[in-house]
Parts: sequence; C-alpha cells; structure tokens
Amino acid sequence: MTDYILEMENITKEFSGVKALDDVSFKVKRGEIHALCGENGAGKSTLMKVLSGVYPYGDYTGNIFLDGEESKFKDIRDSEKKGIVIIHQELALIPYLSIAENIFLGNEIKKYNIVDFDQTFERAQILLKLVGLSENPGTLVTNIGVGKQQLVEIAKAISKEVRLLILDEPTAALNEDDSANLLKLLLQFKAQGITCIIISHKLNEIMEVADSVTILRDGKTIETIKKDSGELTENRIIKGMVGRDLENRYPDYEPSIGEKYFEVNNWNVYHPVHQDRKIIDDASFYIRKGEIIGIAGLMGAGRTELAMSIFGKSYGSKISGTIKKEGKVLHLSNVKQAIDNGLAYATEDRKGNGLVLIEDINQNISMASLNKLSKATVINENDEITKSEYYKEKMRIKSNNIFQKVGSLSGGNQQKVVLAKWMLAEPDILFLDEPTRGIDVGAKYDIYTIIQEMAKAGKGICVISSELPEILGICDRIYTMNEGKITREILKKDADQEILMESMTNKAGV
Ligand SMILES: Nc1ncnc2c1ncn2[C@@H]1O[C@H](COP(=O)(O)OP(=O)(O)OP(=O)(O)O)[C@@H](O)[C@H]1O
Ligand SMILES: [Mg+2]
Repeated sequence: MTDYILEMENITKEFSGVKALDDVSFKVKRGEIHALCGENGAGKSTLMKVLSGVYPYGDYTGNIFLDGEESKFKDIRDSEKKGIVIIHQELALIPYLSIAENIFLGNEIKKYNIVDFDQTFERAQILLKLVGLSENPGTLVTNIGVGKQQLVEIAKAISKEVRLLILDEPTAALNEDDSANLLKLLLQFKAQGITCIIISHKLNEIMEVADSVTILRDGKTIETIKKDSGELTENRIIKGMVGRDLENRYPDYEPSIGEKYFEVNNWNVYHPVHQDRKIIDDASFYIRKGEIIGIAGLMGAGRTELAMSIFGKSYGSKISGTIKKEGKVLHLSNVKQAIDNGLAYATEDRKGNGLVLIEDINQNISMASLNKLSKATVINENDEITKSEYYKEKMRIKSNNIFQKVGSLSGGNQQKVVLAKWMLAEPDILFLDEPTRGIDVGAKYDIYTIIQEMAKAGKGICVISSELPEILGICDRIYTMNEGKITREILKKDADQEILMESMTNKAGV
C-alpha cells in the first residue's frame, strides 16, 4: 500500500469560467497533520469541497486517490462512507436543535425506528467531554457562542468513523486557550491514527502541529514543505502565500489622540431570555477622538454582548446605564437610532448577522448607507456601484465583480465585505468585533492600515479581539473583561500578553 492516504492530481475547478483551482496537486501521508495555507480566495476551501464530494465527480477535472484507489464521490455521504469528514469554515449547525440532536443529525441513534433520546444524550455527553465541553447536551445550539459551536462540530465529526478529518479554520472563532485545547485534541487524534488536514491563517498554530504544509496561491500549488526538512518557518509560509517577504505584521503608526469622544457609564445588561442572569456588570469605558481602544477577554467574558447592547440594544434585556457622545447623552433603543447617531458595529458572526448571503457584494456594502445613497427614497444606483467598486478595490475583495453573491465568496473575502459596509456608512464610533477572523496575513495588514486611517480621520474605534498580539499590535489603550466586568484599563506601553491574560482571568482586577 502507498504511504499516502490521499493523492489529488491535476485538480481543476471552475466557477462560471473562472478557475478557482488550476491543476492543483496535493498529497497527504497517512497519519500526519497536513496544513493547507494560502491567501483569502486561494482555493483552499474549494479543494476540500472537491475532496469531500460537496462538488461531485464530474464537477471538476483531475483525479482523487484514497489509499491508492481512485475515488469518484457523488456527494458528502459517499465520502463519509470512506471515512472522510469535513468541518466547514462556516459552521452548519441547526440553531434551534439541541447540541445532542445536532451531533447525531443525519445519523440518528434509533430504537424500533424511533430516535432513542436517552442514548443520544448519553453518547453526546461522552463526545462533549472528549472535546472539552461541559455544556448540557440538551442546550439549544443558539444559546452557545460560536467558539463552543466549533467544538460541537468536532464532536459531531468524531461521532462518525473518521479516518481523514478536514478542519477548515477550526480555531478562527476560538480564543487562545480553546485553540490550544483543540490543537491538543488534533495531536491526540493523530496518536490514534487519524489523518488531519487543517486550514488556518494562524501560522503559529500550524507551526505547532503540522508535519507538512502545502501552500496554494491563486488556485495553484506553490509547494509542500515538510517539517523534518528543517525549512518550515512562518516567513517561508508567508512568502509562499503572498509571493514576497512581508517585513512587518503591523503597520508603522503614530496615533494622534484628541478629546474624550464617546463614553459609556455604569452599563448593566441582563440575559435576553433568563432575565435574572446579569451579563454585563457595571461596565464603564470611554474612547477619545482618533483613539483605537481594545477589549480583551476570554470567550464568554461579555465583550460582544457589551458592544451589541450599546449598539441600539441589539442584545440583552433590562439594560441600564448611560451612553454619551461628545458629552451629550444618547438614547439608542434600536439599531437605526444607533446608526443615525454615528455608531457602527461590525459583527463577529458574519454569516448569521453581518451579511445577506443571497445578495451580491454591491447590495451588502450599501446596506447600512441607503439613506445617504438615496434621494426621495430612490437609490442612486450609479453612486451605489461606484462606492462598492471603490471598496472592492481598496479592500482587495477577491471576486469576479461586485455582482457576485456574497454567499459564494471565500470566508475571508466575506469578512472584508462586512468591514466595507461599515466603512461606507462613515460612522464616528466603530466597534469591530473580531475584525480579522479568517483573514490572511497580508489582508490583515491592509485592514490594520484601514483602521488606523479611520482613527487618523478622528473617529473613535473599539477593537474586540481574541488575538492578544493583534490587540497589542494596533490598540492605543486596552480594557480587559472577565465575567461581564471590566477588570482593568492598560495603556499599550504598559501591556504585554501576560498582563492581559492575568486581568482577563482575574475577576477582582488588579
Ligand atoms: N460557489 C461559488 N461561485 C463562484 N465563485 C466561487 C464559489 N465558491 C468559491 N468561489 C471562488 O473561488 C475562489 C476560491 O475560494 P475558496 O473559498 O476556495 O478560497 P479560500 O482559499 O478558502 O479562502 P479563505 O481563506 O478566504 O477562506 C474565490 O475567488 C471564490 O470567490
Ligand atoms: Mg476558505
């Protein structure tokens, strides 16, 4: 038998005449962790969809061999029968089913042809434990955050007979601790003989677990680097991805910070359903003109809930506290009022809240600015198109044109559309929730530059991020949160990862 569990040869896949994959070859050794790297839109997810039968045989050209035997999958079920399980970049759980039901969806455990819920819950509990989740299996998926949903997806994957596990950006939504756990889990899987293909933009994680790395650029294979060659470094991967050396990860920047601009005081928020649960506890913070503040915290610390409750009460119940802009109290009871008062919130959940996937790039970008683009309720479509073209160019959104549906864009390019939408709205105060999730290193740099340009123009910016290096790299001042409370305020010059981590886990603050 060959050493390779998988050999993909000369794979070409087109979407309406545009080649997303152009003669790609990709070989994975049995039992290894093999990373797939490349810029947003390079073709990574498409290659994995070809492999797992999402794009069936006949939809692409080229050959796929599993254990040396040619495979022609008709659909996902077909590839699952051979032990290939894919966890997609965009999570696909059903929000109003329980965790347990989601895990066994399509593979229900039955007794006398009826779903055996006792067994379902029992087995779900075991699987959840394996992935490090202490949630009750009966909890609805809608009530857990994206990070935990990712772990549920993994529990679902290992409930099947998996030999080749494909994870498309599994840690994009996870914070550092949870990511570390997940990577440990992958190493455990490897010890059990499961082969893994992992796609990630977090190169440090790849360096940690991968035995080999294959780099794609513009739909073509650039090279495969093996760890034992001694040549695998982050810089080498970046060079392969972008085609040149990238000197710095963060742009050089001199902030020019002005007066206090936006202020939130004694902010309290309760859970939208369980109204006795306090989610945000007496939070106070401010942003000055031209300032980029950061909010650091672990998953569940309440960062997103804080931003959303401020943004026109789009989260929570029994909200109290004051919001002031330029010293004037604002009463924001809905999103429209928030936008009208110059606020913007770019969501961490682009697929659920940030985009209308069945609409095109043009309409998604203009969505929060229709007032500005209209006269007497008629949209000036030329203006709309010009603006969308401008942002497509500026943010380097990779697509055929602005009339491509956002649902068909690569994950990272979808994220850029979310950001473009809020840039066009020209807000004064911008909350960016995980703005670079799933974005490649080169494009991250572009986004940091744009954030800094906005700050330079006198706006107030708040970045929520789970990546501490990012918070330290671009924020002027940082707040840490823990269990709904703001635990500390630190200037960039006084902060490092350890100090942040300490205040993110220490409730009382320092
Ligand atoms: N259904 C589709 N219709 C049209 N074009 C598509 C479709 N799916 C993917 N594409 C295009 O194929 C290219 C490759 O996309 P793919 O999703 O594979 O990129 P990726 O490497 O996974 O990027 P990311 O890191 O952003 O997730 C992109 O230019 C994308 O716009
Ligand atoms: Mg992708």
